[in-house]
Amino acid sequence: MARKNSIRTFQRLRDEGTPITMVTAYDATFARLFDAAGVDAILVGDSLGNVIQGRGTTLPVTLDDVIYHTAAVVRGTDRAHVVADMPFGSYGANVDDAVSNAVRLMKESGAQAVKLEGGRPFAPLVSRLVQVGIPVMGHLGFTPQSVHRFGGHYLQGRGDNADALIDDARSLEEAGAYAIVLELVPAPVAIRVTEDRSIPTIGIGAGAGTSGQVLVGYDMLGMNEDFSPKFLKCYAHLGQAIREATEAYVAEVRERAYPAPEHSFDE
Ligand code: KIV
Repeated sequence: MARKNSIRTFQRLRDEGTPITMVTAYDATFARLFDAAGVDAILVGDSLGNVIQGRGTTLPVTLDDVIYHTAAVVRGTDRAHVVADMPFGSYGANVDDAVSNAVRLMKESGAQAVKLEGGRPFAPLVSRLVQVGIPVMGHLGFTPQSVHRFGGHYLQGRGDNADALIDDARSLEEAGAYAIVLELVPAPVAIRVTEDRSIPTIGIGAGAGTSGQVLVGYDMLGMNEDFSPKFLKCYAHLGQAIREATEAYVAEVRERAYPAPEHSFDE
């Protein structure tokens, strides 16, 4: 079996200047394919609320949802480092409850790390989680769990707000975070954060100057043809491919062309 990537792999790749690759997945089949294709890490994002559950935001996603999907991803993964998102409401109220929730997530899903959204105010929690042995990936910039506070999906860290973002990244690293996702941040600001920090930054909509990149797997594969933000590149058009394949199946069943004799059992 291949050697499992870890937080040490992240730091090594960052230190040698090799871009880190991460995608989101939510089930064993996609995880197996992404793992075989060589991604360094798989994030079981709370974006599962959007792409799996068909919701408008990530807010309704529960800890049980993330545990269920992460356990499936872990079963499909040999080598990639698996990170699970702490969902909205599972870490915001107090540190003790957040630690219990993170411990449950790690124990029941088999994830190697958790990710949580937020900067300086969450540093005490990050440090407690690290103390109990849980690696933490931070998430700054546009943090989807705060979509209502932002009033929509907007670029963060612009102008005078860049310094606050840099300060948030500093406090996460000082608290012990091993990596930080930067989402929807101007590219020059993402470069400033990356150069200021000694842990890796993983960008989504943050330009090419971060230590690595992450995309929602379904978006990267072109499964959602209505979703085309500026930062997204679709490396396949699976939405169209799945529709066309299904149309062909429907037509062949209706024409009695499928199943053919080679698909049938004589006795
Ligand atoms: O939930 C998610 O998929 C994420 C990524 C977009 C970084 O947080």
